[in-house]
Order: sequence, then C-alpha cells, then structure tokens
Amino acid sequence: MRRLGLTLAATAIVALSACSKAPTTAPAGPAAPAAPAAPMSAADRQAALAKLPAPYNTADLANGEAKFALCSACHTLAAGGPSMTGPNLHGVFGRKAASLAGFTYSEALKATGWTWDAARIDSWIADPKVAVPGTKMTFAGLKDPKDRTDVIAYVMIGTGFQP
Ligand code: HEC
Repeated sequence: MRRLGLTLAATAIVALSACSKAPTTAPAGPAAPAAPAAPMSAADRQAALAKLPAPYNTADLANGEAKFALCSACHTLAAGGPSMTGPNLHGVFGRKAASLAGFTYSEALKATGWTWDAARIDSWIADPKVAVPGTKMTFAGLKDPKDRTDVIAYVMIGTGFQP
C-alpha cells in the first residue's frame, strides 16, 4: 500500500509539473492544522458572525482563524472533538470552568468557580497564568485585544455559541 501511495504521489507531481493549469491541489503536508470546526461555507460563517453580540459581530474571522492556529495545538472546537493537551471547547460559552467530564484540570482552574463568557475568555487568553496562577494551560497569551476579539468570534462560531 505504501509503495502504491508513493507511486501515486510521484504521478501527481509529474502531472502537476507537466500541466501549468494544475488540477485542484490536494491538502498538502501532514495533519493540516486549524481546519474549520464545522464544514460551514464562508457565507454561513459571515451570517453566523453577524448574529454575535458586539464587538464580535464585526470581528475579522480570517484573522481569528489564523490566530486560533496557536490554540489548535491543544484544543478542538467541534462537538465530540477530542480533548488533547487542552479540553475540547465545544459548548464552552456558558459552561462552568473546568467541568468537561474526562479531562483532568488543574486545581487552580477548578477553584475559580467561573462560568465562561466572552469577557472571561478574553482575560484568560490575554495571559492565562496571570488570570489563574497555577493553571496548566501553558500559553504565553495573545497581547493584542483585536486578535483576542477575532479569535473569540471564531471560537464562538466553531463551538456552537447561541447568542
Ligand atoms: C499548550 C496547550 C494549550 C494552548 C496553546 C492553549 N490552551 Fe487552552 N487550555 C489548555 C489546558 C491544559 C487547559 C486546562 C487548564 C487548567 O486545567 O488549568 C486549557 C483550558 C482552556 C479553556 C477553559 C476550558 C474549560 O473547560 O474550562 C479555554 C476556554 C481555553 N483553554 C481556550 C484557549 C484558547 C482560545 C487558546 C488560544 C488562544 C488556548 N486555549 C491555547 C491548553 C492549551
């Protein structure tokens, strides 16, 4: 099977170099990161964006998606997605902090008693270890407020946030 795959790949390269109008390129590279959580069209995503509360309704989703690449090393957004280094985030808005069954949280996050909303998540991702000393989310933080707004809008749409 491996040999067949290599042969096909080689054939594809030959085909690509032989033809200047290349056919649609296959997603390249290992494990394409930060795939959109749900297969929504661009128009669907813009419509979902418009329904979000301000200031998220005017966020830049393309930038939010690009910045979410920093999160997607540890988090998935889609319903039923796996927890990785960090918990699956589907339904996180309105969810009690540190409450996803089956994920082992830090005592520090459990002790907050928070319920996640946009403002909490904004200060959390600005600098997790300042927001919750002792957290095990080892993420340096997103310093630019606009990046945070954009990524939160992207996470809202990807996690099924209901305005
Ligand atoms: C290096 C891995 C890593 C990265 C990168 C990361 N996180 Fe996390 N995240 C975690 C871990 C681990 C936890 C659990 C923290 C704890 O228990 O103290 C967590 C928790 C969370 C929670 C709370 C979830 C809950 O169920 O209470 C949210 C929301 C969150 N992360 C959002 C983000 C966003 C948005 C980004 C990107 C801007 C991000 N994280 C980047 C690992 C990561």
